Amino acid sequence: MNDGSLTREGIRIHQPGDFAGMHKAGALAAQILDEVGALVQPGATTGAIDDFIRNRVEEAGATSATIGYRGYQHASCISVNHVVCHGIPGEKVLKDGDILNVDVTVIVDGWYGDSSRMYVAGTPSVKARRLIQVTHDALMKGIEAVRPGATFGDIGWAIQEYAEGQRMSVVRDFCGHGLGRVFHAPPNVLHFGRPGKGPVIEEGMFFTIEPMINLGRPETKTLADDWTAVTRDKSLSAQFEHSIGVTASGAEIFTLSPTNKFYPELG
Ligand code: MF3
Ligand code: CO
Ligand code: CO
Repeated sequence: MNDGSLTREGIRIHQPGDFAGMHKAGALAAQILDEVGALVQPGATTGAIDDFIRNRVEEAGATSATIGYRGYQHASCISVNHVVCHGIPGEKVLKDGDILNVDVTVIVDGWYGDSSRMYVAGTPSVKARRLIQVTHDALMKGIEAVRPGATFGDIGWAIQEYAEGQRMSVVRDFCGHGLGRVFHAPPNVLHFGRPGKGPVIEEGMFFTIEPMINLGRPETKTLADDWTAVTRDKSLSAQFEHSIGVTASGAEIFTLSPTNKFYPELG
C-alpha cells in the first residue's frame, strides 16, 4: 500500500506513522472535554462553556475546527435535552436535570480530533440516565465491531440492534465520518445497517462513530438557525463520539479520556 492510497469508495488508508498525530489531536479534545465536566452545573450558560473551550484550544496552541466551518462561529456544539446535535452555545441557562452533549473538534499539527460526550446538570431523571447509558454502550458496541475485514454495516448493525433492543431509536439523519488531515471525509459512518453490508474496513482507516439515540421516534428537524437539530417528537436525545483508527486487530481510540471521565457521573 503506497502513501496516500484511497479505497475505491474514496476512503483514505493512513500509514502507521499517522496514528501519533491523531492521538495527539484526540488527546487534546479529550482533555478539554474532561475539564468541561466541572463547568456543567445548573445556572451555567452554554455560552460560558463554549468560551472556556475556545480559550483552552487557544492556550494549547491548537485550532478549533468548528469556528468558521460552513459559517459556524463557535468552538463547540452544545445540544441540550431534545436537541439531537449541532446545538449553538449561547445565553441558554442550564437547569437541574438537563442532559447535554458537548462536541469539540480540534486541529493539532494538521490532524483532527473530534469527540463528544454527555453531561448532566444536577440530577437527571431515570429515563435520561438510561438513555445516556444505552447511547454510551451503543458507541462502544460499534467500536467493538471494528476490525479489518468487517464492514461498516457491521458497525451500524451493532449499534442499531442494541439500541432498538432497548426500545430506543437511532437517528438516521446524521452520521459519523472519515477524518484525519480533514474534518469530514468518506465514508459516511451510518449508525444503522446490516451485517456484511457497506465498505470493508481496512487497517489505516480513521473515522468517527457518533451515534445519536432518541427515547422516542428517530425523526429530526433543523431549526430556523440552520444548525440546531431537534427530535420532531421532542423526546430526549443523547450522543457520544470517538475518533478511532483501525489497527491490524481492531481499533485504537484517539479520543480516550486521560482521567476516565468519558462516561458521566450521573448526579
Ligand atoms: N463535531 C461535529 C461532528 O461530529 C461537527 C460539528 S460542525 C459544526 O462531526 F459546524 F456544527 F460545528
Ligand atoms: Co464527528
Ligand atoms: Co463531533
